[in-house]
Amino acid sequence: VSEQPPSTDLITLSRHVMDDQLRLGAAATGDLTLLLIAIQVTSKFIATNVRKARLINLVGLAGETNVQGEEQKKLDVLANDIMVNALRASGKTAVLVSEELDNAIIIEEKNRGKYCVVFDPLDGSSNIDAGVNIGTIFGIYPVRPDSDGTIGDVLRPGSEMVAAGYTMYGSSANLVLSTGSGVNGYTLDAALGEFILTHPDIKIPSRGKIYSFNEGNSMYFYPPVTNYLNSIKYPKTGSPYSARYIGSMVADVHRTLLYGGIFGYPDDKKSKSGKLRLLYEAFPMAFLTEQAGGVATTGTKRILDIMPTSIHERCSVFLGSRDDVQDLTKFYASER
Ligand code: AHG
Ligand code: MN
Ligand code: MN
Ligand code: MN
Repeated sequence: VSEQPPSTDLITLSRHVMDDQLRLGAAATGDLTLLLIAIQVTSKFIATNVRKARLINLVGLAGETNVQGEEQKKLDVLANDIMVNALRASGKTAVLVSEELDNAIIIEEKNRGKYCVVFDPLDGSSNIDAGVNIGTIFGIYPVRPDSDGTIGDVLRPGSEMVAAGYTMYGSSANLVLSTGSGVNGYTLDAALGEFILTHPDIKIPSRGKIYSFNEGNSMYFYPPVTNYLNSIKYPKTGSPYSARYIGSMVADVHRTLLYGGIFGYPDDKKSKSGKLRLLYEAFPMAFLTEQAGGVATTGTKRILDIMPTSIHERCSVFLGSRDDVQDLTKFYASER
């Protein structure tokens, strides 16, 4: 057995995004780099709290309900506060949109920067108390050239984002990021307190063997979804797909990026617009999926092309391997 010596040349996330900035030369001011560095610190801070949650009475409900009518968990509120404080203090943001805040935050002039961040501070709330994987999702827009930062700067198609990513708090903390030229994954080395590049240039396999839907909603699904799912569970040739559904979008998408297959949360007879929120769930994940060579659609339309009209709106989501998502969209095309 040949053993490789440990690497003495670690590529940290800070080093990697700074290299990116240098490649862009004078065009880059370094503001996006500093913003990304601020975001990675929030992920470390949230990760340590997630790890300790059971020990420091951070499990359970906070006692409030968010604008979506969901009961907030203590960790939802804590993660939101960590992100708002750090993003404001970074001096690089102008508008913040969080799942947990009814309204957008417009940053006051003295702290104002050129970027808008939309985020889901803690994704997978229902899994917190069981210690199952959860995450943080974020997307970044530049403010429009003529703007000081208004709601109009975030009511724009996801294709106008300049960066998107998530951190998954699982058996390790993994930060997955795209600044528009591919997708890279970093793993938190807890001893160093640094995210290290472990998954350079992630590409989704063009076809997978896994489907990831909450099939408990089957009685509400529309025919294209039901018929597609039947086609992969009862294939005419070959073997059926495996089911994997964690119920934390971050974890289900992370596995889909690495292993391939399809993740879906469709609109249905009960949830007319689906469940997932366009700005801070669907857009960032669609951005990452496309950057990794996959496809992200509502079934009939590219997600990144949607023009949002309100910050908490929802949309139908299917994303993953190109061939798998195309198989699904054929059912939509033929059954309309
Ligand atoms: P959040 O915890 O941020 O409110 O998001 C929950 C989302 C998402 O993580 C997941 O894909 C989905 O809700 C799961 O919904 P079901 O429990 O209805 O399957
Ligand atoms: Mn929620
Ligand atoms: Mn979420
Ligand atoms: Mn959330």
